[in-house]
Amino acid sequence: MRGLMSANLSDFQRSLAHECLGMLQGHVEIPRVNDQRLLDHVVGADGSEEGFLSGGFLTAVGLMSALHLAGRPISSFGRILDFGCGSGRVTHWLRHLADNAELTGADINPEAIAWCRENLDFGANFIHNGASPPLPLAAESADLIYGVSVLTHLDEDLQFQWLRELHRVAAPGAVVVLTVHTDYRAVRTLSPSDFAKYRRRGFFYQRAASDDKTVAGLPDFYQVAFHTENYIARKWTRLFEPLLSVSHGPFWSQQAIVLQKRDRTRPRLSRPRWKHVKLPLGGIDTPGFGLQPEGATQHVAGWALAPDSSDPLDLRMWVDGNLAEMACIEVERDDVQAAFPDIPYAGNAGFMLNVDLPENDHGFHVIWFTAGDSPVPVSATCVARLLG
Ligand SMILES: C[S@@+](CC[C@H](N)C(=O)[O-])C[C@H]1O[C@@H](n2cnc3c(N)ncnc32)[C@H](O)[C@@H]1O
Repeated sequence: MRGLMSANLSDFQRSLAHECLGMLQGHVEIPRVNDQRLLDHVVGADGSEEGFLSGGFLTAVGLMSALHLAGRPISSFGRILDFGCGSGRVTHWLRHLADNAELTGADINPEAIAWCRENLDFGANFIHNGASPPLPLAAESADLIYGVSVLTHLDEDLQFQWLRELHRVAAPGAVVVLTVHTDYRAVRTLSPSDFAKYRRRGFFYQRAASDDKTVAGLPDFYQVAFHTENYIARKWTRLFEPLLSVSHGPFWSQQAIVLQKRDRTRPRLSRPRWKHVKLPLGGIDTPGFGLQPEGATQHVAGWALAPDSSDPLDLRMWVDGNLAEMACIEVERDDVQAAFPDIPYAGNAGFMLNVDLPENDHGFHVIWFTAGDSPVPVSATCVARLLG
């Protein structure tokens, strides 16, 4: 991990693009999800198939970047577990790894697992697990475990049961990536008194709204949880050493925590030394995900804003890992202002530019933007002949 935070931004972008182009190349068939309840669970209420593809792609890019930044590229893992895989929104983007890695997806939802078994036919093993541990997996049988938006739903007791179980399944030195809701979401969701409790205790669990489609049909324990970074540093470090955290960007309103199984022969650090990558929120609206490129030049439009700062953002646009152009943020976006009413400058958070698409044999390109010195893409898309 040491040194990687200052590693050359351009080299990082090129390596990440190489991985992402491999991910797209492996994608000969696009899974179509037409079960609205499955989409609601993993994309969000009234989620669409397009959201399933673009959001899964972006999360996979985020996961790959975070691992890359931690010095453990995704291709270096032989046994990968997607804990709480749902209908494989992220898992299916890893199919290019299936020749060299054992991929497993586990979920409590039997309908989602049945869907994965029927539709994601690339050699991954999909297993159904109970609400409480154990997983039907041997001890030390995974080198990488990731759980996207799973601990965001568990109460504190179940959280610890599952952290211990993931620790059992993790091989020595294994990496575990878990996403959580932290302050950004808590301050916007909780009442002032609940927010104060959350800050005091570091953990807060509350029932989702009764009409929340994202939890409908799932077991009663599946509600909404919030964690402070301080709580994670105090409580999770008994089992895992935190390496890195990435807020926002590809993880949207969540924060990804990258951990490593603790070597019990080494003393626990009283103050874990983990790096925090704080990204803006942002999106790319044009080009639409997976659509055909326009030609040699592509129009790109999107927006970005840092929720905790009004400093101007320094954005860089990258096409297939090459710097395309500096993007300046000044385009008026009433829709972004409406979506973020508490952020005064959100109305001018838009950007637009034209980028040249390099010639290549496969006919698709990855486009993303970064902010400041951080190498992790804020948002990413692809132009390809995948859809439409
Ligand atoms: C918000 S969805 C995210 C699904 C998937 N990770 C993704 O990013 O698309 C949360 C998933 O966690 C699953 N889940 C919740 N608790 C779980 C547990 N203890 N073990 C396995 N899966 C669990 C739910 O069934 C659901 O599919």
